[in-house]
Amino acid sequence: MSWWRDAAIYQVYLRSFADGDGDGVGDLAGLEARLPYLRDLGVDALWLSPWYDSPMADGGYDVADYRAIDPSFGTLQDAERVIGAAHQHGLKVIVDIVPNHTSDRHPWFQEALRAGAGSPERERFHFRNWPNNWQSRFGGPAWSQVDDGQWYLHLFDSTQPDLNWDHPEVRAEFTSILRFWLDRGVDGFRIDVAARLVKQQGLPDKPEEHPDLPSFADGKPAADKDRPEVHEIYRDWRRVLDSYGGERCFVGEIWLDDPERFARYLRPDELHTAFNFAFLKCAWEAGALRDVIDRTLATHAKVAAPPTWVLSNHDVTRHATRYGREDTAFTGRLHRVPSDLGLGTRRARAAALLSMALPGGVYVYQGDELGLPEVFDLPEEARQDPVFRRTAGLDLGRDGCRVPLPWGGEAPPFEFGAGGAWLPQPREWRELTAARQLGDADSMLSLYRLALRVRRDEEALGDGGMRWLESGEGVLAFERDPGFTCVVNLSRREVDLPEGAPLVASAELGEAAAGPARLPPDAAVWLRTGN
Ligand code: NOJ
Repeated sequence: MSWWRDAAIYQVYLRSFADGDGDGVGDLAGLEARLPYLRDLGVDALWLSPWYDSPMADGGYDVADYRAIDPSFGTLQDAERVIGAAHQHGLKVIVDIVPNHTSDRHPWFQEALRAGAGSPERERFHFRNWPNNWQSRFGGPAWSQVDDGQWYLHLFDSTQPDLNWDHPEVRAEFTSILRFWLDRGVDGFRIDVAARLVKQQGLPDKPEEHPDLPSFADGKPAADKDRPEVHEIYRDWRRVLDSYGGERCFVGEIWLDDPERFARYLRPDELHTAFNFAFLKCAWEAGALRDVIDRTLATHAKVAAPPTWVLSNHDVTRHATRYGREDTAFTGRLHRVPSDLGLGTRRARAAALLSMALPGGVYVYQGDELGLPEVFDLPEEARQDPVFRRTAGLDLGRDGCRVPLPWGGEAPPFEFGAGGAWLPQPREWRELTAARQLGDADSMLSLYRLALRVRRDEEALGDGGMRWLESGEGVLAFERDPGFTCVVNLSRREVDLPEGAPLVASAELGEAAAGPARLPPDAAVWLRTGN
């Protein structure tokens, strides 16, 4: 079976992972030094957020040179060394690719600015004499004006001009970039904004942005995403990837609610997998989760692609915080929303076991394994996410889930590096350092290490099917062949467990007067049932 069908993939957000050179920003030397930690955690692969040369206006999702490493992270030689070292530890390496837009510092955009209106250089982007009504995903209009009066499209920040994917040079450039990194041994690519590359011809206004027109109906492509032509691009890319042999894969960042349209990206000659954002956004509620799981399995079965299970990433509020809120489906970042972190953490432990027990691949965002919460009280001047600025602070942005990891010690920067951390870490993280958690069998880190090891060893886990078991209200229970059962208690009462030997539990199991043990609320357990 191909490794990516059931891999546990750890997301490394490089500038917040570990700092090797003491400048307060994570880098490749820091990552290399911590590879044994990742090997011992028990993951199969790493996904590295963009490491390319970048002005970092959007944390590296603004690329100035797709064939160079940002100097704050290291050099191309460092990258090659890390790929090799990861492979020696048995870890595959997936790198991010950002094809929807470049940085405004990219030579192509600089040439376009110089060459002026009507020039061939401007055709690689979307320049127009008038903007349309599209809004930036980061807030505000999706158009900015240049000195000669023309406007250019940017679905994200104004420093991220959208490329024109109808232009043959854009297409040729990206297949060449894929080859550049495949030649250096990467095992796959995570495709940023994968459904938005192609825009509707003529860039018409979007009806959903007219307040007095009916809103856009699901099931049809929007003017700025999910155009049918985007699939040709991925078929081309797939041919390139497959020509390298081995077991390489694509994972798409695809935020589409319509399951039919989502599944089209996972047809056998396109992408291998895509992130499951429906699962990430789902409330901590048995019925809602069961529904999302069923829909996920049905959607993927049609195209024979393995599902993925994602709880957090560098763009959303950390789930230990989300699950402690009254509205557990709320993914926003307003500091006014209170959260009970004790409750959120218990649920995060249970959710980890749920996500690792389901068939398919599972993602771990760095710090999930330490149970890190979202950080809300960052000083304004430290905040770097353009979302904060573009929404005038209404949305706090994503810095709170990107705070550098606490590795050890009693005070910030908690051994992140020798020279501080680019975002301040809360003092309470003293309790959450990797070093401290390693010495505590009941810690989140110990739970992740055990569960990932069992997941790897258990024949039942990984790719394949599952069957729901009868269970009481508020309880999710399913079995997988041969002889594995997962029970998650989302109710408010302790529940009886079916017969079986506990393999991993997210909380201490209660004693039953007679018969099997009992599972407390907001907890999960894996059982070997031996049938
Ligand atoms: C999705 C990435 O995950 C996010 O961090 C980035 O800001 C946008 N795409 C734009 O590239």
